[in-house]
Amino acid sequence: MNQDELKKAAALAALKEVEDGSIVGVGTGSTVNHFIDGLAGMRDRIRGAISSSEASSKRLAAHGIKLFSLDEIEEIPVYIDGADEIDGHFCMIKGGGGALTREKIVAAVSRRFVCICDASKQVATLGKFPLPVEVIPMAAAQVSRELVRLGGSPRLREGFVTDNGNLILDVHGLSISDPVAMETTLNQIVGVVTNGLFARRGADVLLLASAGGVERQL
Ligand code: 5RP
Repeated sequence: MNQDELKKAAALAALKEVEDGSIVGVGTGSTVNHFIDGLAGMRDRIRGAISSSEASSKRLAAHGIKLFSLDEIEEIPVYIDGADEIDGHFCMIKGGGGALTREKIVAAVSRRFVCICDASKQVATLGKFPLPVEVIPMAAAQVSRELVRLGGSPRLREGFVTDNGNLILDVHGLSISDPVAMETTLNQIVGVVTNGLFARRGADVLLLASAGGVERQL
């Protein structure tokens, strides 16, 4: 199986995590796109979805899945999303697709976070994948200097603007031994909107696809 087939296998396994009659939290990315396509086949069994990006909203709407906003609900039972890296404590780096802020918001109102990944995303220590940091445009240079002080090498994601109208700095060269502390530290930098560490609120369930099948880890 190639990587995309593994992503699809993890995504389709996540359909079993969806509760009948519920509003589903939906992440962003190529793995989640397979999930959305699968969700279309059971759209009459759910009330609808809360989306984490314009791209996912468009795909959900194209399948006739009703979209809700966070103004309409307080909590959702389950959030399904991919990751760029996930460690043994289910802390993650996310935001390769640039949707990290809305992903973190939807994850925050979800009772369960189900991460769907192919096995290449599993790592012992987070940080080989450049850590995305969403910044207010006028603060990009100042935030970059702070990130260098923390030992990283930030690079502006060229030609990319987030759904929130902000920029992304991809931070290379970080070896993140304490993801919770790093997430907290980065959140304190003025001008940072969100960082792509999902450690304070990590995943609750991992559906990990490899050649041997999809393993459900808790
Ligand atoms: C988007 C994300 C994605 O979940 C992450 O980048 C994984 O993407 P893919 O499923 O395409 O490998 O965080 O902001």
